[in-house]
Amino acid sequence: MERSGTGYRRTARVLHWLVAIVVIATLPVGMLMLEESVPRETRDALFIFHKNVGVVILLLVLARLAYRAWRPPPPMPDHLPRWQVRIAGATHAGLYVLLLVMAVSGYVRVEAGNFPIELLDALGVPALVPVNETLETTAQAIHFWTRFLLVPLIVLHVGAALHHRFVLRDGVFARMWPPLGR
Ligand code: HEM
Ligand code: HEM
Repeated sequence: MERSGTGYRRTARVLHWLVAIVVIATLPVGMLMLEESVPRETRDALFIFHKNVGVVILLLVLARLAYRAWRPPPPMPDHLPRWQVRIAGATHAGLYVLLLVMAVSGYVRVEAGNFPIELLDALGVPALVPVNETLETTAQAIHFWTRFLLVPLIVLHVGAALHHRFVLRDGVFARMWPPLGR
């Protein structure tokens, strides 16, 4: 069991890296599945992957937030300037918000459009939103545009993490790495 100040707890690390891997896979899949040049069967498989993994992302992000409320993250190291601590905090909050917006808008777009979400359908989970064209097109637009905020924020976040690891070498990266803790 880790103490505060030495890094994120094992559960937080596992959840962080699971979300990182699936989000980094889901973004290009979302774009590829809409490409006319990709064969129809491949696109259908990518659609099924994207929708269902997207729902899993939503659940994982909610699990992270719940865990974070129960076991708050370790305080930021003292050597970091105040402005960096603030930007890091804002970036992390932004990532959580944008992931929720992305996943919820994807869910609403599909359910309001009366399309299947195979995993939820198999589990017998009823649709939480009505079939409605206005709702569908609004959610579709939100789902389309959110990536233009999400992707730059991920690039900033990963860039900062790698800067800490390879340039500053100040132990900030090790707060989250390795994925399973020590
Ligand atoms: C390969 C890419 C990634 C690396 C190297 C990385 C690295 C890190 C590191 C070192 C931290 C801890 C920062 C601290 O000490 O406070 C962290 C936190 C965080 N990362 Fe990443 N990350 C990556 C990808 C992602 C992705 C794709 C997302 C989400 C889209 C993400 C979301 C977050 C969030 C929300 C936190 C804050 C955790 C919390 O305090 O609740 N990360 N990341
Ligand atoms: C954080 C999770 C998610 C990310 C990062 C993501 C990302 C993307 C991206 C980048 C696109 C391409 C947008 C375009 O070019 O129009 C897309 C499209 C799409 N996504 Fe997601 N998505 C996520 C979750 C979901 C979920 C949970 C669902 C449904 C259950 C979903 C359903 C769709 C659908 C149906 C499209 C096709 C867009 C359309 O033509 O309406 N996504 N997604």
